[in-house]
Amino acid sequence: MCGIVALTLKEGNASPLLHSALKRLEYRGYDSAGIATLYGEKIFVKKDAGKIDEIHARLNFDNMPGSVGVSHTRWSTHGAPTRENAHPHLDCKNTVAVVHNGVIENFLELKEELMDRGHRFVSRTDTEVISHLVEEGLDAGENLYNATVNALRRLRGSYALAIISTREPNKIVCARNESPLVLGLSDSGTFCASDIPAILPYTNKIIILNNGELAVLEADNIIIKRISDGVTLSREAKVIEWSIEQAEKQGYPHFMLKEIHEQPTSLRNALRLQEQYLDLITTFLDRGEKIFLLAAGTSHYACIAASYMFSKLARLATYPVVSSEFIENYGDSIGIDTVVLAVSQSGETYDTLKAVDYARMRAATILGITNVVGSTLTRVSRAYIVQQSGPEIGVAATKSYTAQVLVLAQLALKLAKMRGKLSQDEIDEVKASLQRIPETVENILEKREEKVKELARKYAKEKTFLFLGRGISTATALEGRLKLLEISYKPSLAYPAGESKHGPISVVEDGTPTIFICPNDETRKDIIGNMMEMKARGAKIISLCEEGDQKIADLSDDIIEVPKVHPILSPIPYIIPLQLLAYYIAVENGLDPDKPRNLAKSVTVP
Ligand code: F6R
Repeated sequence: MCGIVALTLKEGNASPLLHSALKRLEYRGYDSAGIATLYGEKIFVKKDAGKIDEIHARLNFDNMPGSVGVSHTRWSTHGAPTRENAHPHLDCKNTVAVVHNGVIENFLELKEELMDRGHRFVSRTDTEVISHLVEEGLDAGENLYNATVNALRRLRGSYALAIISTREPNKIVCARNESPLVLGLSDSGTFCASDIPAILPYTNKIIILNNGELAVLEADNIIIKRISDGVTLSREAKVIEWSIEQAEKQGYPHFMLKEIHEQPTSLRNALRLQEQYLDLITTFLDRGEKIFLLAAGTSHYACIAASYMFSKLARLATYPVVSSEFIENYGDSIGIDTVVLAVSQSGETYDTLKAVDYARMRAATILGITNVVGSTLTRVSRAYIVQQSGPEIGVAATKSYTAQVLVLAQLALKLAKMRGKLSQDEIDEVKASLQRIPETVENILEKREEKVKELARKYAKEKTFLFLGRGISTATALEGRLKLLEISYKPSLAYPAGESKHGPISVVEDGTPTIFICPNDETRKDIIGNMMEMKARGAKIISLCEEGDQKIADLSDDIIEVPKVHPILSPIPYIIPLQLLAYYIAVENGLDPDKPRNLAKSVTVP
């Protein structure tokens, strides 16, 4: 995830402090870094792709002049990791420098408009439009504050940003919409950063900037304003007692829990994909005779959910296949008429890349969904989508799973539209539910976490669990089981509930915790039958059901209620309580959920 740090000092050079602050943002993951400082009438910039230490060894970040500066670690979202795409980004005249974390949805429109007015762009980033918009405001005689506000009014999307200009060399203007931004005050200056650890060695007096707010920083003063109407806000600084390590996790005890809680944001970002990439992938999918959804682990379960979506919305049959089995199982049937949609958070999973290579050699069309721009998957795909989840540090995939499912749902819906398989009303209904997904997830995290904790305490010592779902909830059962299994080391079963009679039911005995995923969809009646069968054999029934589903509640020992969503999207909200359950059961058992034994975040070996 991109990180920004900016500071203005009463005396001394800003760049050594920015350099060491950037080092403290490294844990967030990045592929490029840069610093800009202001001195006299000039902006000085040093930036490049690569690790901070390597760039520093080449360019020396510590000898830049000036006591005001902005800096950035970049996790690519638009444009490959290159020097040109690294932040800070300047305007045409080198009078403005901008660092940004977030996604500007309408940057292509703005870029075109600015280019028509003669602006020269040097990067492929969404951020650069901001520098040029501010430049226009300054040229029109506005001060830096007004030029920034007017630029922000043109942006759609998420941002945390910091801007400096030679026109007002003692100021930094920073602003926030969705992406986090904190401010800091000390006797030596003022600071802003994406998170607290970056600036904690300089100050522990912190102000959290809220969405829709902007701050003007001078070395001895911070003014906070609401962007919409310019009203000045007063806010006391809080004294933070965290260590740097606690601050990296933003006060959460583990990255996994932090990442579970980041899902409303990562899902909002996954709804901000560039239409042209979605259209391109949809067109290729539509042309395929045979379509394989290729992935490993959690990403495979996202593909299982997607296969129901493609079938139900677009009436298209797709095959979700585990990457390591693809060649053996389907290799001989691959040809020019095959489309392979490979889904991989890291874009580097060995099995997935090997299967992709094989399919490419047989002239299949390769499409990709990944979280990492510049990963091998992006290089071998004919077209790809970046799911915009930001780096995931916990080994167990959480926010990357829900974002993958959301991206795949958008593709299925587009395909349905392209193929004329749904009425406009049906399309609008799914679309409206899609847009509400981040809010729904927020609601679950707010209202259900305590209940899940209580269940984790109740069931933490059980040796095995059974996860059952029908239809699209089969994917949720499989992913819920994987989360529990990989971080709590509890061998557990997950099955389509209809299969339970064909074997798994034999493991059920008095008290076996059996988790049913039962959204209010067309499988509900049948899953109630499966519940009764399990209950009759002594299973303890834990159900995930829609809010107010009395029938399910009456049949269950414990329930976790989930707000109503369109049934096709249920895999996203219904996995949230299961991620939390796995997390809290691991913690109850004294295990570290961030570092499960024997597992690596990215499996790059056979
Ligand atoms: C489970 C998990 C793994 C990955 C799998 C594929 O929580 O993280 O199962 O999903 O190794 O990784 P990617 O998506 O990077 O190809």
